[in-house]
Amino acid sequence: MTARRPLVAGNWKMNGLSTSAAELERMIDAAGPVASAGVELMIFPPATLIARLAARAAGTPISIGGQDCHARPSGAHTGDIAAEMLADAGAHAVILGHSERRTDHGETDAVVRAKAEAAHRAGLVRVVCVGETLAERAAGRAVAVVARQLEGSVPDGATGYDLVIAYEPVWAIGTGHVPTAADILEMHAAMRALLRQRFGGEADAIRLLYGGSVKPDNARTLLTLTDVDGALVGGASLKAADFLAIAAAYV
Ligand code: 13P
Repeated sequence: MTARRPLVAGNWKMNGLSTSAAELERMIDAAGPVASAGVELMIFPPATLIARLAARAAGTPISIGGQDCHARPSGAHTGDIAAEMLADAGAHAVILGHSERRTDHGETDAVVRAKAEAAHRAGLVRVVCVGETLAERAAGRAVAVVARQLEGSVPDGATGYDLVIAYEPVWAIGTGHVPTAADILEMHAAMRALLRQRFGGEADAIRLLYGGSVKPDNARTLLTLTDVDGALVGGASLKAADFLAIAAAYV
């Protein structure tokens, strides 16, 4: 099986002002041990901070990404940001289809897929998010829902270099609740199998992250499960000490 490099990514969501540069500074200062252990680190700040933080993070173990992009490269789309603009600002990656975008902005799988194609066009790594609601899990439909999202949101021709999948159960985000190890194992195995059907052997190079209430005290349990190749961290990524303590699960 292809060795997949662990990836610990921090999604700052709509948090962060210019003063947050100091938190990135602390992360850069303390990232050495996890970086030496081979862990890849990414921070996804709000769009207003991308250029500043990307300039600071250049040449360090931390890369910077955006939280969304538009599908088109330019045009009359007030308030939107093209993938090319993210790349131009120094972004290396972009999160797409986060459940908060799917809910707050009505993003469908087709929209997410179009954005993922745009991100590829701009040379960005795509971190495509999928995950079921509590009602869907209670109805026994979690795997089917995620399979449908994966099928609809991930473009053809994806590789381990340009695609990362983040499984984030909606009910685990910001709640302190996490799925059982058995449920995560089942979901990640199902996602890997689906990716193999579509991409053959290349599927073994695509990293599958878990996200939803990942904290320093549960990181080792969650992140060392089979087919869990890292984490997409929300709240705990706002503090350097917590973020790096999570990444230390791989040290
Ligand atoms: P929390 O880690 O705050 O639960 O958020 C997870 C998330 O949505 C990351 O994208």
